[in-house]
Amino acid sequence: MANYRIAPSILSANFAKLGEEVSAVIDSGADFIHFDVMDNHYVPNLTIGPLVCEAIRPVTDAIIDVHLMVEPVDRIVPDFAKAGANIISFHPEATRHIDRTIGLIKEQGCMAGLVFNPATPLNYLDHVLDKLDLVLIMSVNPGFGGQKFIPEALPKLREVRRRIDESGRSILLEIDGGVKVDNIAEIARAGADTFVAGSAIYSAGKDSDPHRYDTILSAL
Ligand code: DX5
Ligand code: ZN
Repeated sequence: MANYRIAPSILSANFAKLGEEVSAVIDSGADFIHFDVMDNHYVPNLTIGPLVCEAIRPVTDAIIDVHLMVEPVDRIVPDFAKAGANIISFHPEATRHIDRTIGLIKEQGCMAGLVFNPATPLNYLDHVLDKLDLVLIMSVNPGFGGQKFIPEALPKLREVRRRIDESGRSILLEIDGGVKVDNIAEIARAGADTFVAGSAIYSAGKDSDPHRYDTILSAL
């Protein structure tokens, strides 16, 4: 099996017991925690920020994979770095100077990721792929968990896989949105190696079921 990883998104976790929800997936073997940050401006929803990242940092040594759906981006980057984020990804439309934002994330000691919405062209990669640690392809429009997978993400994944392989660099290729037991194998065949899964693992408001992590992993 290739080197695949599941990144459970705590967006769908039970926030009243967030520490336990994080530990539950870590105990199941997760080595990434996907952390969705929404600002009610770039996306029409409002979630969690650096204080919550800081609060979960002592709960785990896993990679905290921060997905910023905020505009502007730069102002909040140092706060997440201080809060213990390992990866910080952002949307190119949300910042004025993409190259500068990537540089800022790296200066702060984090890995940098660029995120592509379903209708965002991949051209941005022409100029910055060599500086990235992760490319994230959105397979839903950002803002909410529990949406349906948009299949146009598959050819996009294939194209980014090709570009990454051609670059010869080790860059993670992550997919986010609507990843389920019944489509994860096909998504992997299109080239993803890192799979965000929110509602497939957590059921908001209810205690998590550790078997859900194993189930989705075994579908790969
Ligand atoms: C959506 C978020 C996703 C979301 C995925 O804007 O970026 O990470 O939590 O949730 P599911 O897996 O339920 O589609
Ligand atoms: Zn996300």
